[in-house]
Amino acid sequence: MLTERRVHLCVSGGIAAYKAVELCRALQKAGADVRVAMTPNARHFVGPLTFQAITHAPVLTATLDPSDEMAIGHIDFAQSCDALVVAPATANLLAKAALGLGDEVVSTVLLATDRPVVIAPAMNTVMFENPAVQANLRTLAARGWHIVSPDAGELACGAVGPGRLPDAEVIVRAVVDALGPRRLAGRRIVVSAGPTREHIDPVRFLSNPSTGRMGFAVAAAAARAGASVTLVHGPVSLTPPAGVRAVPVISAIDMCAAVLAAAEGADAVVMTAAVADYRPEAASETKQKKTPGPRSLSLVRTPDILAELGARRADGARPVLVGFAAETGDPVAEAQAKRARKRVDLVVANDVSAVGSGFGTDTNRVWLVGEAVEALPLLPKAEVAARLVEWLADHLEGS
Ligand code: CTP
Repeated sequence: MLTERRVHLCVSGGIAAYKAVELCRALQKAGADVRVAMTPNARHFVGPLTFQAITHAPVLTATLDPSDEMAIGHIDFAQSCDALVVAPATANLLAKAALGLGDEVVSTVLLATDRPVVIAPAMNTVMFENPAVQANLRTLAARGWHIVSPDAGELACGAVGPGRLPDAEVIVRAVVDALGPRRLAGRRIVVSAGPTREHIDPVRFLSNPSTGRMGFAVAAAAARAGASVTLVHGPVSLTPPAGVRAVPVISAIDMCAAVLAAAEGADAVVMTAAVADYRPEAASETKQKKTPGPRSLSLVRTPDILAELGARRADGARPVLVGFAAETGDPVAEAQAKRARKRVDLVVANDVSAVGSGFGTDTNRVWLVGEAVEALPLLPKAEVAARLVEWLADHLEGS
C-alpha cells in the first residue's frame, strides 16, 4: 500500500510513544521507507536507538546538534518525504503546531513541511476533551491535516474514554488515504450511527447495544477521502471525527427528520444506525409509578428511514443508499431481500452471531451485497469503513 513511498514518523512524549515502534514496523511492512524524528520528551519513553535499529537510519533528535544536522537536517526531514505522521501527538505538540511554534525538533519539522500530515493524538480523556485541545484539532483539520481520532478505552493513567492511540493498521490506513487520491472530494455524504432511544417516560426508554463505532468509522473514512460529511448519531460515548458535522439526536423520529433534511442534495446516505423499529405508543410526560402485577406496553412502528429514502428516490437517482443489516441467519440472502424491499443500492450484511462481529466489537465480518456480492474477511471496523468508501467512490464515479 505504501510501496515507493517515504514516510517520516514524528514521535512526541506521551506514554503511547512505545506504540510508535510498532507503527514504524507497520509502515515498513506496508512498503514505506521510514525515517524517525523524536521530541526530547519522547526519548524519556523510548530510545532513539530502537528506531535507528529498525529503520537502519539515524534518528533526528535535535535541531541544533551539529552531528544530528549533518546526518539529516530538519528541513530535509520535513520536505524529503511523501507524508509526515505524528504519533502519538501530545496536547502540547498540537498546541505548538496550531500556533506555529518551533521550540524543538518535531514542532520545527512541522513548521517546515509542505507535505500531507497525518496526526494521531493520544492523551488522557479529560485532556483530549479539553476545549483548547479540540479547538487546536479543528484548526489543524481546517489546514488540511489528517486527524486520526483516538480510540476509546482504558488508558495508561487508569481513565476510561477517548485518548488511546489507535492500532497501527488504522494509522497506516490514514497515511494511505492521505497520500491517495481524495476520491470523495466534492461529495456530500450523510452517515447515521448509534442507537436510538424510545422513551417510555422521562427516566425509562427502549434501546439497543449499538455503540456507533461502525458509523463513526465510516464518517471518518469518508471525511479522509475528501467528502463533506454529516453524521447524524444517537446517544453514544464517542467523539465525532474531526472535520465532520455532527447532528446528535435521541429518538427514531428525530433521526428520521435529521437524516431526511441532510439527505437533500446529498450524494450518498449510509445508514449504520441501529434505529429502533418500535416506540411506545404514548410516552408519559411524568415518571410512571410501579403498580402491583404485570403491565403491558403498547408499541407502534417508527418510521423506516432507509425505506423512506428508497421510496422517495427515482431508480438510479441520487442519493446512493447504503443500509446495514445485522443478521443471525443467512446474512447474504437476508441482505438481498432487504436491498430489494427498501430499494437501496448496497446492504452491508453483518453476521452478528459470528465471533468478533457486531455490536461492541472492534472488528466486523461483512458482505457487501449490491448487484454483486463481495465477502470481506474479519477486519477492523476502520478497514471495513475504508472498503465501503472505496465502494461508494466506484459507484459514484460509475453512475
Ligand atoms: N433502518 C432505518 N429505519 C428504521 C430501521 C432500520 O433506516 N426504522 C435502517 C438501518 O439503519 C439499517 C437498515 O435499515 O441500515 C436495517 O434494516 P432493518 O430492516 O431494520 O434490519 P433489521 O432490524 O435487521 O430488520 P428485520 O428485523 O426486518 O430483520
